[in-house]
Amino acid sequence: MIPTAIRRSVLAAFVAAVQIACGAQSPASPTPTPPVVADPLSEAAAAAGKLVGAAVQSSFLNDMRYSEVLGRHFNYLTAEYEMKWDPIERTQGVEDFSAGDAIAGYAAGRGMRLKGHALIWHNAVPGWVERLTADDLRAAFARHIRSVAAHYRGQVFAWDVVNEAVADDGSGLRDTVFRQKLGDGYIADAFRLAHEADPQALLFYNDYGGEELNGKADRIYDLVRDLKREGVPIDGVGLQMHISAASPPNESSVAANMRRLAALGLLVNISEMDVRIRDVPGPSTTRLDVQKSVYRSVVGVCVDDPGCHAVTFWGFTDAHSWIDSFFGADDPLLFDERYAPKPAFYGVLDAFRRR
Ligand code: XIL
Repeated sequence: MIPTAIRRSVLAAFVAAVQIACGAQSPASPTPTPPVVADPLSEAAAAAGKLVGAAVQSSFLNDMRYSEVLGRHFNYLTAEYEMKWDPIERTQGVEDFSAGDAIAGYAAGRGMRLKGHALIWHNAVPGWVERLTADDLRAAFARHIRSVAAHYRGQVFAWDVVNEAVADDGSGLRDTVFRQKLGDGYIADAFRLAHEADPQALLFYNDYGGEELNGKADRIYDLVRDLKREGVPIDGVGLQMHISAASPPNESSVAANMRRLAALGLLVNISEMDVRIRDVPGPSTTRLDVQKSVYRSVVGVCVDDPGCHAVTFWGFTDAHSWIDSFFGADDPLLFDERYAPKPAFYGVLDAFRRR
């Protein structure tokens, strides 16, 4: 007779061997699940006549999975952080373009377009800039725009020239250091300086909270209409689209806003889309499905408007999103933390395919 304890352990070993042979996961030696290879978003977007973009960080480009998924699905890159004034010139007079150059090199190597972001943004200003007198700020402002736009001349397809200059309550311009010391004309000046330094680049005004028709959207509209009337070299408007699936923008209102901007002769792009789901009630599958339908509906608005030329997401994997640190833990993007396409991905694919 074989003792019971030995029989049990032989049986357990046999069961484990069969499980592994059949592809089941054992905690000791996990069998890797093959990555899901989804149809490239960039092909579907191109067929719809749109660019599809993602914000990237240079430090992730050496990660093979990050680089592979990015290279397969996107054809338009935005520097999430590295081309802002603060990281480029933390110390006055010492410019460091190395991180931005890594992104530009990656894009060029894969035939992707590049969006520079952002020449003038009150939230990414080096500390020394805040302390300058008005005259010194005027000089530093011009030198910064000329230098950065000239550095990336021939490499960027477009620049976000001024970012978030309209006040959140839609009352007028935001009270930034630029407005305080340079006056309201700083916005037109920034566009003229950027155009002189890089006449080929498309120049955009970029902002959030004015995606659908509302007071802030009206102020953004007034601003870009006036710039256009004054002959300022502005080519388009970016609607950031950082939204929550619990209170998504109204589709027809976004469409009407895009139409009136395009009617000014401006290009429109969705420039920083992500869709938060933590406030959506229900289980995870429900939240992911709601997220999918919001992505499909909003991207569909761009697909249907000939004036909307690009959709850019603010990242692509939930492994790396600014939302976690600025709004709280969430899963706002198209791929999960293991780089598998989420329902949201298929919602965007459907939108580009007009399904
Ligand atoms: C955010 C980046 O995602 C962060 O990594 C960075 O530290 C701060 O800026 N609107 C914009 C973007 O125009 O530049 C912001 O990006 C997100 C909000």
